Amino acid sequence: MSIQYDVADLSLAPQGELKIEWAGQQMPVLATIKNRFKKEKPLKGITIAACLHVTSETANLMLALKEGGASVVLCASNPLSTQDMVAASLVKDFGIPTFAVHGENNKTYYQHLNQALDFNPQITMDDGGDLISLLHTKRKNLIKNIIGSSEETTTGVIRLKAMEKDKALKVPVLAVNESNTKHMFDNRYGTGQSTIDGIIRATNILLAGKTFVVGGYGWCGRGIASRARGMGAHVVVTEVDPVRALEALMDGFMVMKMDEAVKIGNIFVSATGDKHVITTTHLKKMKEGAVVANSGHFDVEIDMAGLEKLATKKRTLRPSLTEYTLSGKKVYVLGEGRLVNLAAAEGHPAEVMDMSFANQALAAEYFVDHKGKLDNKVYVLPKELDNNVASLKLKAMGVSYDRLTPEQKKYLSSWTEGT
Ligand code: ADE
Repeated sequence: MSIQYDVADLSLAPQGELKIEWAGQQMPVLATIKNRFKKEKPLKGITIAACLHVTSETANLMLALKEGGASVVLCASNPLSTQDMVAASLVKDFGIPTFAVHGENNKTYYQHLNQALDFNPQITMDDGGDLISLLHTKRKNLIKNIIGSSEETTTGVIRLKAMEKDKALKVPVLAVNESNTKHMFDNRYGTGQSTIDGIIRATNILLAGKTFVVGGYGWCGRGIASRARGMGAHVVVTEVDPVRALEALMDGFMVMKMDEAVKIGNIFVSATGDKHVITTTHLKKMKEGAVVANSGHFDVEIDMAGLEKLATKKRTLRPSLTEYTLSGKKVYVLGEGRLVNLAAAEGHPAEVMDMSFANQALAAEYFVDHKGKLDNKVYVLPKELDNNVASLKLKAMGVSYDRLTPEQKKYLSSWTEGT
């Protein structure tokens, strides 16, 4: 094979191909865009380097971009989220240079990012901002070729806005996460379901009757809390934002400080995007047998380094389930404190990734259409594109919805009509 790649095992490709096919069947919006791309070739001549979770859903995005005329190269956005069979199939069946091995160490992870950037992309796609960060630090020479970079997740957008504020951002960015058809569905229903899935696959514990603590009540936290409640758990929310804390309370959850929650919780999940939401002080106060997981993008939300120092014993009981002994008491960490929905399960279902990746595909097209016209700022995709993704999804689901009548439109734009 003449293409460059680094994947675990090419012989896994047949399983990967079927997995990609199945996911593709649940992604009708992306399929519609792919069909249009096939005819219009809006990405002809463009090289796209994507640093995303290497899953069957991502594979379908890569195929849509390729159909649009782009040359694509893919590397993993997390060492534990790669589905090796999918990576193998992308290389073997679809000829897409892929650099991703499940369980790769930090050095290999960054080597893979660099290998993707070696393709000299005009567009980069990130999930967490690692590629764009490398571009602005060790690979600055490549910035001149970039027409735009898109970002998939909340954590990455936070990083990019900080760069924009510091005037450090040297390329135009589209924050795909900010589209309604991304965060309202992927972050809420996707993270909600896949986090519970990850906890169950790692432990097979019963959630009914347990006290389930969710750190953070953003879109992800809202989804996790609601799904945990659906499984019969008593859900506690911790927050630093008073409005969100109030929202959680009025949504019917208990709200308290993490310091209090650790005394009663059986299961803990962080979903904040910030570091040390669960500290060693918290871990020491937890009840015997507490299960601790993270659903935020980076493995910083649980103080894993502190826990490693504190523990007197460490054992792996099942894949993704590590027991730590702390002065006689045991706590259990899932997926090494990395995002549990991808480390211990398969990430969000294809149905939500359908909309997220439709937005990514449209973002790539937007960069080409607006080449040279965008400033080095963080942009959001236009509302019409967002609404279009929603209406395509509804159409695919066989659901129709009302439209404003001319009279209603007029009423909404006038200010003279009153009582
Ligand atoms: N992020 C969360 N779930 C995902 C999935 N299934 N594929 C790619 N990225 C994801």
